[in-house]
Amino acid sequence: MLRLILDTDPGIDDALALFLALASPEITLEAITTVCGNVPLARTTRNALTLLELAGRTDIPVAAGTSCPLVVPYVDAALVHGGTGLGSLTLPDPQIQPVSQHAVDLIIEKIMSAPGEITLVAVGPLTNLALALRKEPRIAHAVREVYIMGGALRVPGNVTPAAEFNIYCDPHAAHAVFHAGWPLRLVSLDATHQVSISQTRFAEFTSYGGAIKQAIRQMTDFYFDVFQANETSKKFHMHDPLCLAAAIYSDLITWEPAYVDVELQGTLTLGETVADFKHPEKANLLGSVAVDAERFTQFYFERMSQAYP
Ligand code: BDR
Ligand code: CA
Repeated sequence: MLRLILDTDPGIDDALALFLALASPEITLEAITTVCGNVPLARTTRNALTLLELAGRTDIPVAAGTSCPLVVPYVDAALVHGGTGLGSLTLPDPQIQPVSQHAVDLIIEKIMSAPGEITLVAVGPLTNLALALRKEPRIAHAVREVYIMGGALRVPGNVTPAAEFNIYCDPHAAHAVFHAGWPLRLVSLDATHQVSISQTRFAEFTSYGGAIKQAIRQMTDFYFDVFQANETSKKFHMHDPLCLAAAIYSDLITWEPAYVDVELQGTLTLGETVADFKHPEKANLLGSVAVDAERFTQFYFERMSQAYP
């Protein structure tokens, strides 16, 4: 059984990753930690709580984390995810509260109390992870594995031509996390842009069924509406769900060792993930270079249909 912490900024695709985690018997979801990213921290935390309530999983602790990046000014992604972060999905205020422990302390405590057992899956900006490493560097040796959705290694970025959102939002945090010397796998746009799902496919999946499916419909429809004018974006990129799925079945992705650094100075390239695949001996992570998109898509819909009929 995979003991997992999901560090997240829900976020439409974060919500899909969360539902997938809850639907996966291979995983014990030990906690959800939130970070500012797609929308501000108060929103990402509220969203995590309401999504858990919707799924009837209020037993999973939610810890709120950091509310701004380490150095750069905060930039959201509300244009993509809507002002609430969940598209046009509206849910009542949650009845449950986050735990009193800060996300950074929860991450440290969980990892240090079970050396070699906790897998960290981070699908938002990396601020919480960077602060946890700063406060307790030994987590780098005690964590089982770290999966991160972020970066663009051999492909263009999605916020700027150079940078992907999660890295761009807090490049200094990403820099610290990439150089922590821990077992890290990076699920970058190189892989996630290969797993896109059409509006028709989501419509088919959500045409009947309960509250979770309806929520997915409302969130993804918003996304498709936002991008309606743009032919190339009519497919929904499954960034965060792919990262979660890879933490369960790492062979969904083809990995290559790489030395990846983060551009912190460039006026045009801030947050670029500069990857050197030519010197594997220097590698600081395993980068995603290809993905079995068909297998992932089949896995995703099978798993989701079983869990949420
Ligand atoms: C990443 O940015 C966010 O908007 C998504 O939730 C995902 O984690 C993709 O670049
Ligand atoms: Ca995210």
